[in-house]
Amino acid sequence: MQRLCVMGLGYIGLPAAAMLASRGHSVIGCDTDLGVVAAVAAGQAHFREPDLDMLLAAAVTTGRLTAQAVPAPADVFVIAVPTPLGAGNRPDLSCVEAATDAIAPFLAPGNLVILESTCPVGTTEALAGRLAAARPDLCFPSRGGAAPPGCVHLAHCPERVLPGSMLRELVANDRIIGGLTPACAERARALYAGFVTGRCWLTDSRTAELAKLAENAFRDLNIAFANELAGICRGLEVDPWAAIALANRHPRVSILRPGPGVGGHCIAVDPWFLAEAAPDHSPLIRTARAVNEARPGQVVAEIRALAPPGATVACLGLTYKADVEDLRASPALAIAEALSREGTRRVLCCDPMLRALPPPLAGRAGVALVQPEAALAEAVVLAILVPHAAFRALPRAAFAGRLVVDAVGLLQPA
Ligand SMILES: NC(=O)c1ccc[n+]([C@@H]2O[C@H](COP(=O)([O-])OP(=O)(O)OC[C@H]3O[C@@H](n4cnc5c(N)ncnc54)[C@H](O)[C@@H]3O)[C@@H](O)[C@H]2O)c1
Repeated sequence: MQRLCVMGLGYIGLPAAAMLASRGHSVIGCDTDLGVVAAVAAGQAHFREPDLDMLLAAAVTTGRLTAQAVPAPADVFVIAVPTPLGAGNRPDLSCVEAATDAIAPFLAPGNLVILESTCPVGTTEALAGRLAAARPDLCFPSRGGAAPPGCVHLAHCPERVLPGSMLRELVANDRIIGGLTPACAERARALYAGFVTGRCWLTDSRTAELAKLAENAFRDLNIAFANELAGICRGLEVDPWAAIALANRHPRVSILRPGPGVGGHCIAVDPWFLAEAAPDHSPLIRTARAVNEARPGQVVAEIRALAPPGATVACLGLTYKADVEDLRASPALAIAEALSREGTRRVLCCDPMLRALPPPLAGRAGVALVQPEAALAEAVVLAILVPHAAFRALPRAAFAGRLVVDAVGLLQPA
């Protein structure tokens, strides 16, 4: 049993904290958002994720997980705070820096600090430098050097779980463990080995940082290719879904599905961490971002072409992907927002994952959150923006003979 302090109780930190508590560790969850702290302290997740409520309630009831706004002494500190984009698409590491500064006074010889947040290459080293400056009384290893006994160990262990399957993937996925030194990686491996059934791959912190960014840039690039191909198909009067399905019959081709763009906290963000670090070597990554960022505007144009001013449009789905409630950087939300901002059409939004219209749609004239049945009955144009399971279950006949912009291929044969 170790004492852990998990900084950031969001989509990544909260499942990790609950999982670690379920394996017998004593976990303090720490978040700057007092609403999050109160919810977690009451054993309630502040977002929906299958089975998380059960794991969390058990962890809190047994006293293995507590929540508070400030860190406390621990054997292991895990940093899982946001790493969004700042001005000019540059990484905004202010939360990582704030969390690092917050734990500094509590560090003791032999502690382990794990950075789980997705970060630009070199962040783990920078974090060690920041801690060393704050705590000159402690010993910190340098990259590739030795970590003498009594040193504070540091490692980057990026997360790659899929929202909606987080608890399963937290256990089953392979894990990259990038130590500032090999001894740091070993320390971190010992912690993850307590609940990970996938393989733990040990490497150095820079390689781990780059590998995580490469994963998301790879996804972004491949989605951009699918989107570009779909645009080419439309111009040539070819059904993109049929063409892609046929191309994928090739044993070494696997084209992804086109869509309305890329959202969420990861794939739309992390490629910039590579592109900004190496502007002269990242033309593909930048182009992929541009292709995917252009998609919401293109879908809006498709909808406009079918829906004259005064018409009612139904936006089926607002979240950034299917069957999650996460709206961060959602292309579907951007599309609904752009349509409603024009103020010339009624916009009926349906999303089974949401209980209320999110900002900036909430309170806007001419916009309402309705059930799919009402949207199908009242709208002239049906824009399918997210392939939620609830929409997949709708009878295909409901769309027959209607004006439909199917941005996600929901109506395509499986
Ligand atoms: N969400 C995902 O699916 C996913 C997947 C892989 C990696 N990641 C990465 O994990 C990191 C965390 O993402 P997330 O989705 O959990 O973010 P999130 O916004 O859901 O949660 C982050 C939490 O950290 C808290 N916080 C901010 N600053 C803090 C501080 N100084 N001290 C303590 N708490 C603080 C916030 O209040 C918030 O509750 C990011 O780097 C992200 O890129 C996310």
